[in-house]
Amino acid sequence: MALPGEAVERFRECLEAAVRSDEIEPTAMCLSTVNAAGGVSSRMVLLKDWDESGFVFYTNLESFKGRQLGANPSAALVFHWKALEQQVRIEGQAVPVSDAEADAYFASRPRGSQLGAWASDQSRPMSGRAELVARVAKTEARHLARTVPRPPHWSGFRVVPDMIEFWYGRPSRLHDRFRFTLTDGTWQKQRLFP
Ligand SMILES: Cc1cc2nc3c(=O)[nH]c(=O)nc-3n(C[C@H](O)[C@H](O)[C@H](O)COP(=O)(O)O)c2cc1C
Repeated sequence: MALPGEAVERFRECLEAAVRSDEIEPTAMCLSTVNAAGGVSSRMVLLKDWDESGFVFYTNLESFKGRQLGANPSAALVFHWKALEQQVRIEGQAVPVSDAEADAYFASRPRGSQLGAWASDQSRPMSGRAELVARVAKTEARHLARTVPRPPHWSGFRVVPDMIEFWYGRPSRLHDRFRFTLTDGTWQKQRLFP
């Protein structure tokens, strides 16, 4: 169920303000997933696309996060833009993007990042930096002067939200919180105490 127009506009305003501000990585967001033991696992990823249907990031499907989302699609995202004193929290289900969508994004990446996607067995043990450098060199040699195809183990997820909350810093810690929750197929908006 698509986000309500007000939530889309609030997110657009926050992200555009963050891009204009001094934030070094305005699209960076903390992604939390559920691990095999039922615990929570968090790390940063970059938002690469978004609209009213969800928030897209890309990764190695064999990484910890990739395997965790394969087993349990529940996911949470947090953006914190320090300079703006704003936070956005999103909860929902991570759905794989289509092959066509992943191909189009992969093709737009710098060649070095494309080669890295083949060379790095993300989240697997590595003997040392030399192993990574050797793997990059081997990958470069294999794709010399050729288009680098998207690895089958590299793609994206769209976090389809069932909750989005906007937090705006205000003086004396009397912040504003607006929470949109999808309940029985309808988006509800609430203000919460800070
Ligand atoms: C600012 C920032 C952005 C990152 N963006 C991504 C990303 O878009 N995709 C990704 O796979 N890893 C990204 N990483 C690395 C992840 O935080 C993480 O170390 C890696 O994906 C392995 O996570 P996992 O072992 O839980 O799967 C980023 C790290 C930082 C600090």
